[in-house]
Amino acid sequence: MNRITIKEILEHGNLNQDYSVFGWVRTKRGSKSITFIIMNDGTCFHDLQVIVELNPRLEDRLKQVNSGASIRVDGKLAKSVGGGQKVELMASEIEIIGAADPEEYPIQPKKHSLDFLRKNAHLRFRTKTFSSVFRIRHALSFAIHKFFHERNFYYINTPIITSADAEGAGEMFQVTNLDMKNLPIDPNGEVDYQKDFFGESSNLTVSGQLEAELAALGLSKVYTFGPTFRAENSNTSRHLAEFWMIEPEVAFSDLNNNIDLAIRLLKYSCQFVLDNYLDDLAFLSQRKEKEEAALKKEDRSKSNLLDSLRSIIDSDFTILSYTDAFDLLKNSKKNRKNKFQFPINDWGMDFQSEHERFLVEKEFDNPVVITDYPKDIKAFYMRLNDDNKTVRAMDILFPGIGEIVGGSQREERLEFLEKRMLEMEISKTELWWYLETRRFGSVPHSGFGLGFERLVQFVTGMTNIRDVIPFPRYPSHIEF
Ligand code: 4AD
Ligand code: MG
Repeated sequence: MNRITIKEILEHGNLNQDYSVFGWVRTKRGSKSITFIIMNDGTCFHDLQVIVELNPRLEDRLKQVNSGASIRVDGKLAKSVGGGQKVELMASEIEIIGAADPEEYPIQPKKHSLDFLRKNAHLRFRTKTFSSVFRIRHALSFAIHKFFHERNFYYINTPIITSADAEGAGEMFQVTNLDMKNLPIDPNGEVDYQKDFFGESSNLTVSGQLEAELAALGLSKVYTFGPTFRAENSNTSRHLAEFWMIEPEVAFSDLNNNIDLAIRLLKYSCQFVLDNYLDDLAFLSQRKEKEEAALKKEDRSKSNLLDSLRSIIDSDFTILSYTDAFDLLKNSKKNRKNKFQFPINDWGMDFQSEHERFLVEKEFDNPVVITDYPKDIKAFYMRLNDDNKTVRAMDILFPGIGEIVGGSQREERLEFLEKRMLEMEISKTELWWYLETRRFGSVPHSGFGLGFERLVQFVTGMTNIRDVIPFPRYPSHIEF
C-alpha cells in the first residue's frame, strides 16, 4: 500500500499529482452528477473532501460509501473551488475496504451525547471531539517528556504491583492469585498471604513516589509517568480508579524549587499544545462554548478555552499558606452567610472542592498554590515545619478542575520521619529501604504528582474526566 495520510496530503500534497488516501467516511452527499465524500483518518483535525464525478463504473461502489465505512480513494489533488478547504481529491478509483451498514453504525453524522459516546468508547475515536481530545492527550504526554528531557531529568519506571501504601490512605486494589473459593487460612483464622504469589499481600500502586525518591537520591532529578490505581468510591467528574500520574522527584531541592518546577511544567505543556495543536484546540474551544450556552450565566467559564490556556501561561500563580487560605475562607461572605455545603470553622479541616473553586474562580480568579497544610491531613513523608503543626506541602488548584498537583518537600531527617511513622502507624519494618536513604547520605528533596487526566481535562475543556482517557475505569465500569 502506498499510502499518504490526510495530514501529509493537506500539508505537503502537490496539485495535479496522483495519490492514494485511506480513511473512514464521515459523510456523503451530492446529486446524480457529482458526489462529495468527506473522509478522515484521524492523523489531523481536518477532513479531506473527495469529489466523484458521474462514473457508471463507480456507481455501485458509491452506494457502499456510507458513514463509518473504510475506503481507499485514488485520485488527483486539485485546488478546491468550494469554500471550507484549500484542496480536494478528484477520485478516479474507490475501494471499499470495510463496509458499514448505515442502519446499524452507531456513530451517525449528527450530534451524540458524551454519555452515549462513552458507551460506545470503542468507536468514539472516530468522532471530531474525541479524536481532538486524544491527539491533545498525546501532545501533552510528549510535551511532558520533552520538558523533563531538556532539563536533564531521567525517566524511571516504578512498580505497578507493590506491598507499600505510599499515601497511607488505604484505597488500594489488592492483587492476588489465591483461589478466592478456597483461601488458605493461618492458625489465627486470617488469610495466609505467605501462600500468595509474592509471599505477602500486594496491591496496585497508588503512587510511584517512594521509589522515585530512592532514584532521585542517586540520579538527582527523575520523574515517573505511569498508571496509578485508587479504589476510592468517588463517582465525580474528576476521579478515576485508574489514572496516570507524572511524579518528578528532585534531590537538593526545597518547596520553593518544587513549586517553581510545577508551574514551569504546567505553563510549558499548555504552550506546547497552543503552538502545535491549535486546530484541535480551536474546535474544542467552540465545542465548549456551545455546551456552556445552555448553562446559567454564572455557571459558564469566564473565558474561552484558548484564552484560559493563555492566561495560565501569562499569569503569576497566587501562592498562599493553608492558614491564610483558611482565614480568607472563614471570613468570606459566603461562609458567614453559611452558603458553603461544608462550613469553614476549625483550623485543621481539609478543604473541599467547593472551597478550592471559591479561591481559584471567585477570590483570586487565578491558579492558586496552597502551602504548609496541617500535618494531620497530609501523608507521613512530608517535611515537618518548626511550628510542629504544619508540613511543607503544596497543592496547585486550577480553574474548573480544583487540585491538579499535589506535592511536598520530603522529610529527610530520620528521627522526624520515624516519629511521624510511629504516630501514623506506618510500619518501619516494611519501609526499611525508605528509611535507609535517610540513614546514608540523606539530602533535602522534593517532588510532586501531576494528575495527567486532570491536565488533559483542563487543556481540552472536557467537563468529565471519563472523556479524556480512552477507556475510563470507575465504580462499576470495566468494559473495553
Ligand atoms: O495528591 P496526590 O494523592 O499525591 C500523591 O500521590 C503524591 N504521592 C504525589 C507526589 O508528591 N509525588 O495525587 C497527585 C495528583 C492529584 O493532585 C490529582 O491531580 C491526581 O493526582 N489524582 C487523581 N486524578 C484522577 N483520579 C483520581 N482518583 C486521582 N487522585 C489523585
Ligand atoms: Mg492531593
